[in-house]
Amino acid sequence: MTLELLPTVDSIDPNTLEPKSGSNKLSRSVYIETYGCQMNVADSELVGSILNDAGFKISNRAESADVILLNTCAVREHAEERVIGRVSQLNSLRAQRPNLTIGILGCMAQHLSETLTERAPFVDIAMGPDSYRRLPDLLAQSSDDALLDVRLNRSENYIGLTPIRREGTNAWVTIIRGCDKFCTFCIVPYVRGRERSIDPIDILRQIESVVSEGYKEVTLLGQTVNSYKHKNTSFSNLLRKIAEIKGLERLRFTSPYPIDFSDDVISAMSELNCVCPSIHLPVQSGSDEQLRLMRRGYSLYDFRRLVDKLRNAIPDIAISTDIITGFCGEAEKDFQDTCKLMEEIRFDFAFMFKYSEREGTYAFKKMEDDIPEDIKSQRLQHIIKLQERISLEKNQICIGKSYPVLIEGKSKRKGKDGKDRYYGKTPHNKTTVVSENVPKNTFVDVVIDSCTSHTLYGRPSRINDPS
Ligand code: SAH
Ligand code: F3S
Repeated sequence: MTLELLPTVDSIDPNTLEPKSGSNKLSRSVYIETYGCQMNVADSELVGSILNDAGFKISNRAESADVILLNTCAVREHAEERVIGRVSQLNSLRAQRPNLTIGILGCMAQHLSETLTERAPFVDIAMGPDSYRRLPDLLAQSSDDALLDVRLNRSENYIGLTPIRREGTNAWVTIIRGCDKFCTFCIVPYVRGRERSIDPIDILRQIESVVSEGYKEVTLLGQTVNSYKHKNTSFSNLLRKIAEIKGLERLRFTSPYPIDFSDDVISAMSELNCVCPSIHLPVQSGSDEQLRLMRRGYSLYDFRRLVDKLRNAIPDIAISTDIITGFCGEAEKDFQDTCKLMEEIRFDFAFMFKYSEREGTYAFKKMEDDIPEDIKSQRLQHIIKLQERISLEKNQICIGKSYPVLIEGKSKRKGKDGKDRYYGKTPHNKTTVVSENVPKNTFVDVVIDSCTSHTLYGRPSRINDPS
């Protein structure tokens, strides 16, 4: 099987992409599986909307779908390996369904465009994150060769589309696509293209629409969400405009980039009631030398100052982070400095990763991936343990206090008494489990009785808005 590169959007005559005569795409059903970050979750919702508008049914079971799409992540090698494994597993469905189409969407399609059919020979189509509008056309084509569409398109913001959101209490709204930071370890700018901010009119329209549908919480998304700038609208202006929308109870955003965190944004966060007191602030390392090699553009001094400003403005703010261990040249001392920073800042939560070399990045081309795998793993295990202790200690401070929790649904695990439990989030983004039956999408004040490093447990004292 070879890859067939499609022409660019500009050069395509829409008529050439008409479905083959006799194919009835209206009756086809699509199952979408999402890997990776929240941007991918939001992109899958867009893809669902594009395909639904084109007459496809959205199915929630791979086994019964005519088209299976995996929306993928390329940030770490492990994520790609999982998808390759999943594709071969799904391929077995072809025995009963010879017309099944399997597609890879997103960052991995972009990243592996040249070698994808060697690594995943069962894939029928591959499409990068800027091409989704053309998905119905691609699905209507039939070819013995895999079809590939991975052009990055500076102007693709998916304006005018209303994502089909999964039922929930939080709506993800993408406000900025791509990334211009080019941290040396990171593949994202290569697979998601240049940074572009979405027109505030479209963002406000989307948020008004989700709030009128009953969503009480919105999370604004972007790889560097606070780098948002559209003509005269800065990120803080946008937050203020969104906060005026009646019925929006909680506003979050992720992930901000430390050097683009302006004082205006901090003021907006502390002044606007709906903005939640929690922030995900990826630091990556506690060593200035590592930060320099990563080209993060800030020093530890800058990072500490930002944390101080945030804590002064919003005293109980919860701060989470991302940390990489075993990046190129990470000496034992660099690693110890990361541990020290974790003890000093006391993040509420952290996503922690082993460095995974990604083809195409600056680090891949110019730096040596010189930390042995076993040292990377040992360091990772060490910081995971360290963070678990800190998270537990931070959660223990919540015991005896009461927090408004927005209930998201029934917990997978029952309580010790065999009864169903319900979970939701505090304003500080801490998952909280209650034993009483509380309706979904309801705010309830919960007094915290106990905790683990990941979860708070409590009892409702008052339901605020029975719906
Ligand atoms: N700006 C985005 C970053 C997206 S990638 C954000 O802050 O959400 C998410 C995280 O994956 C990064 O913060 C980094 O900690 C981690 N990461 C990115 N590339 C990586 C790599 N090559 N190896 C290991 N971890 C990586
Ligand atoms: Fe990646 Fe750095 Fe952008 S981590 S997403 S290049 S901010």
